[in-house]
Amino acid sequence: MDLEISGRVAVVTGASAGIGLAVAREFLANGVAVVIVARDVSRLKAAEAALLEQRSAKVASIAIDVSAPDAAERIVDTAISTFGALDILVNNAGRAHAGGLMSSTEEDWAQMTAVKLTAMRRLCKVAIPHMQKNRWGRIVNMSSIGGIYPNPKLFISHVLSAAINNLTKSLALEVAKDGILVNAIGIGAIATDNWANNMIPAVRRSRPELGALSDDEILSRISAELTPVGRAGSPRDIAAVAAFLSSARNGFVTGDTIEASGGADRFM
Ligand SMILES: NC(=O)c1ccc[n+]([C@@H]2O[C@H](COP(=O)([O-])OP(=O)(O)OC[C@H]3O[C@@H](n4cnc5c(N)ncnc54)[C@H](OP(=O)(O)O)[C@@H]3O)[C@@H](O)[C@H]2O)c1
Repeated sequence: MDLEISGRVAVVTGASAGIGLAVAREFLANGVAVVIVARDVSRLKAAEAALLEQRSAKVASIAIDVSAPDAAERIVDTAISTFGALDILVNNAGRAHAGGLMSSTEEDWAQMTAVKLTAMRRLCKVAIPHMQKNRWGRIVNMSSIGGIYPNPKLFISHVLSAAINNLTKSLALEVAKDGILVNAIGIGAIATDNWANNMIPAVRRSRPELGALSDDEILSRISAELTPVGRAGSPRDIAAVAAFLSSARNGFVTGDTIEASGGADRFM
């Protein structure tokens, strides 16, 4: 299917690895110019170099923490000064926080909220005037199935996911008249560094009987137990959904949180 977005310009936050990198690849394959965002400069530059190997790829990067006070303006300025427009915004930066309310700290809450929710709100606010100018825009916010089916083992992540789903719906209603569609993806278990770094240690603590297994084996075991399709997702599984939601072929889906979880309602 031709997504009819060749020549558009996208910003993808958290695009030096995992899901964000896969989304950037999918956009480039569809002729979209992409600004990738992440904090670690060397990993970001390596991702940029790898993306530029794709045929006719147009890529720029900005190394910044999305929760920095001036991040939204600097990211959007990069898109406008490099490619002259901003049509598509994918708010993907972040990670999971494993643990319940009682084991989480004030700092955990503040840091997670700043990266996942406050930065998302700010980036939408700064990006939307550029989309309104062209009467066309697409925004995709990465959420979690926990925003719909909360799991107390991931308290902060899932409270914030519910807030992201609500932000998405509310914003979609506000900007639909401007040709801008806003959706979220309720992501299930996807094999990325985020899973390995933030989820596997928590699974090892709560399931000591899995202790002898490697990280990959634990992910396979948990996915087989909890995911109806019987496997963990790949970043490409999510990138395919994000690409459709970001495309001109999507003309009628807005305000929705699309579950992309292999049918699962939890992943730990
Ligand atoms: N994987 C899953 O199972 C899963 C499930 C539900 C939801 N999600 C959500 O999907 C999104 C992507 O997850 P992933 O699994 O692909 O993660 P990942 O593999 O760890 O990649 C995260 C990306 O975000 C960047 N990043 C993290 N914090 C940032 C910040 N403050 N400012 C700018 N960039 C930042 C990272 O680079 P730097 O560290 O260099 O900044 C990296 O490029 C996250 O929001 C995550 O919560 C994932």
